[in-house]
Amino acid sequence: MAEIEPELHAAAVAVQANAHVPYSNFHVGAAIRTRSGRVFTGCNVENAAYPEGVCAEGGAISQMAAAGERLIDTILVVCDGEALGTPCGGCRQKIREFSDADTVIHVAGPEGVRASYTIAELLPDSFGPEHLGH
Ligand code: THU
Repeated sequence: MAEIEPELHAAAVAVQANAHVPYSNFHVGAAIRTRSGRVFTGCNVENAAYPEGVCAEGGAISQMAAAGERLIDTILVVCDGEALGTPCGGCRQKIREFSDADTVIHVAGPEGVRASYTIAELLPDSFGPEHLGH
């Protein structure tokens, strides 16, 4: 049982099992808790046309946005293997869109959370909605 965020870890591990990864065989799961307390999940979904594949974080963010939610309180990303599975650059920008200074990004393995970040740590001096006056 994960010691940090056991509910989000379990949700991410559950959806990780549904990853469609015939090309990389690298299963990723993501679970978001919004500031209002709702949980959304996503897994990576690859495509024979390789660039059309989508990351787990993007899937979870799409689910969240489609439900009308706009603020990530916590996101947990889980993958297998020894390496720290930090979000890719594109996913950092997608998380940034729906984050504030209190948003926590947990990176986990099967056993639980391995590292935790703010979006400013993952994406310093980032471009965001306020640059467009939002
Ligand atoms: N992947 C994610 O789902 N999230 C990330 O932040 C990094 C990479 C996926 C994309 C692809 O399906 C597989 O991991 C290998 O890159």
